[in-house]
Amino acid sequence: MKKIFTLITLTAFLFLKVTAQEISLDKGWKFKTGDSIQWASPTYNDQNWKPISASHSWESQGYPNYDGFGWYRLHLVIPSSIKEKSYLKDSVRIDLGIIDDNDEVYLNGKLIGKYGGRGGDIKTSHYGPRSYVIATNNPAILWDKDNVLAIRIFDTGGDGGIYGDDHKIIMADLMDNVSFNTDGEFSFGDKNSLSKAIKLISTSKYLYKGKLSFTVTDPENGNIVYDKINDADFTAGKPFTYTFNIARLDKKSYQINYTFTEDKSGKSKNKAELTPYMLTPYVTAKPRINGPDVFGAHPGNPFLYLIPATGRKPLIYEASGLPDGLKLDANTGIITGVVTQKGDYPVVFTVHNSLGSETKKFIIKIGDLIGLTPALGWNSWNAWGLSVNDKKVRISAKTMADKLSAHGWSYINIDDGWEAPQRTASGEITPNEKFPDMKGLTDYVHSLGLRMGIYSSPGPKTCGGYLGSWQHEDQDAKTYGDWGIDYLKYDWCSYSEVTHNPPALEDLKKPYQVMRASLNKIPRDIMFSFCQYGMGDVWKWGAEVGGNSWRSTGDIEDTWKSMSTIGFNQITDGPYAQPGHFNDPDMLVVGKVGWGDNQRNSRLTPDEQYTHISLWSLLSAPMLIGCDMGKFDPFTISLLINDEVIAIDQDALGKEAHQAIKTDNYQVWIKDLENGSKAVGIFNTSDKYQTITLNRNENELNGYSKIRDVWQQKYLISMGAHFVTKVAPHGVVLVKMSK
Ligand code: GAL
Repeated sequence: MKKIFTLITLTAFLFLKVTAQEISLDKGWKFKTGDSIQWASPTYNDQNWKPISASHSWESQGYPNYDGFGWYRLHLVIPSSIKEKSYLKDSVRIDLGIIDDNDEVYLNGKLIGKYGGRGGDIKTSHYGPRSYVIATNNPAILWDKDNVLAIRIFDTGGDGGIYGDDHKIIMADLMDNVSFNTDGEFSFGDKNSLSKAIKLISTSKYLYKGKLSFTVTDPENGNIVYDKINDADFTAGKPFTYTFNIARLDKKSYQINYTFTEDKSGKSKNKAELTPYMLTPYVTAKPRINGPDVFGAHPGNPFLYLIPATGRKPLIYEASGLPDGLKLDANTGIITGVVTQKGDYPVVFTVHNSLGSETKKFIIKIGDLIGLTPALGWNSWNAWGLSVNDKKVRISAKTMADKLSAHGWSYINIDDGWEAPQRTASGEITPNEKFPDMKGLTDYVHSLGLRMGIYSSPGPKTCGGYLGSWQHEDQDAKTYGDWGIDYLKYDWCSYSEVTHNPPALEDLKKPYQVMRASLNKIPRDIMFSFCQYGMGDVWKWGAEVGGNSWRSTGDIEDTWKSMSTIGFNQITDGPYAQPGHFNDPDMLVVGKVGWGDNQRNSRLTPDEQYTHISLWSLLSAPMLIGCDMGKFDPFTISLLINDEVIAIDQDALGKEAHQAIKTDNYQVWIKDLENGSKAVGIFNTSDKYQTITLNRNENELNGYSKIRDVWQQKYLISMGAHFVTKVAPHGVVLVKMSK
């Protein structure tokens, strides 16, 4: 009894201590659009400013489609007691949640930190989490007095302002300097064993001495299946490495907890991660033809299609029924040429190797539509951000050719950051020093049977602050054509500066109409991808304006909140998806991401990644891999080469799944497929294991008795009206149901 009492008192005391040591910045903010340096001043009178919440973007709080400058102000007292109670008394941390896009932070009129994209320019796109650390003796802090925190924000497009959670001022802690690097690769051994090396790192010269506890828990029942404690000493420049090896795991995720506790202070830091597990079966040595059943191209334009096929090399390719003007390279599977006559051409592909052969019926549609199935490829942004360069693109292209193109992946898209600072005297856009030979790079990508994409914005500047296409659309389209570009991602950034604010529907359409007209003058099939975040319900007019896809949301992040909010909200736009025109819920966040030079593992758990790929396939979404493909790990590859999953995305009917069931804990999405069967995603949106039952006698599933587990590529034995399945937290069971 006494023990319990002591525990309760201790917990309450710790709780009070923690809350007293931080000052919440969640509430009390005031806001004004526009820009004036006087708004930084502590004596400025902001009485008439409107209140605003720091949890949601300004768009959702009465400032729809507002791009440009906005200021947030907050009055607060910073008590010196937080300093006195802290272990290290030297610095204060200001956590501001997410800022979209860039900011300057003033405390009592003094600039204490700022964040800008390229060259620190506030007018560039670099939204993300913000934390600023300042010394406790910085005269900007008025201890125990009224302080004014003023934040100047510039938003280039889409959502803007401060959002997210956990806005606070807190004393910097001894453990702030300590981090776990868990980005090493998991190695899969015999009998499902798993090993990995992790590092404990410090940026402080302080010598950390303590214990690292390592536990593995089965999240299904909470049982600890493995634990170990090790001594761990480390300091700046001398990390501590711990390598573990866990034997015999089932095909599911286990939770690993790493906790470091420092001997002297008793302070600790922890990190948890979930182990990856692979469901995709090994690719067989026998020949197999993958990819879509249909491909569209315009008459008279260069044609390029690589027959996606797996099997032991060498593979020999054949195609019968090819229209006049096309030829196949029997050794590479690449079809090239030009078809002048419109029409639907049924073709039969055959692929042979030493173990046999396989054939597949295919239709080449020469006509007005391209992009009959959603684009599958890679885009540099989520991996490299503005630090993309020729070498990184070549590595990606080579990796796609080696590991993915046999499964239908084909686009290599350069996002922002390739443009030179100035146009030539005649107004042409040129690449910057990171891309010495754009035509050479495109030729290389084409030689692998892949296609090349590029990025621009209709405003004077792109989101990254580079040159946009404003008033140079014809010239830019011509340049893209000369280089051999096959895909254009066209943003919105800075177009707000040259149109009405807020823009009317015609203003939203106009830049895409203008660029469409310019692209139409170029004798190439260029996929046109709008990136204006869904403004003006773009899905209602994207096809009419000539878009092959349109972003339906703001930018994705590698978190469950971001991915699931985006993915599970593709509802009103769903019915507008059709061959040649697809909703784009943004690029994939699997593998190593980082939006810049520093790459890390996606923060999505393995089950969340299964959900991500399954949901995007059900949504008929373009899938653009956003990771460093040069550092692919076996789990990420297994997510991307499951031909039965990809086939759902690439289904020729081009319909989008609809949300058939939604409860607080799970959702079921159903997609009609061309052969009459249905792809069904059963998603556990809760954070606990669940057994979910699907009634097969109900409505649209009535009569669909055969069930195939798509990830595992095997039929499930399931009798009676109810299909009962266990689904991991934030995970999915993806099945195909047929009569
Ligand atoms: C954003 C866009 C991102 C990326 C970036 C480049 O607006 O949503 O996907 O293209 O611009 O600056």
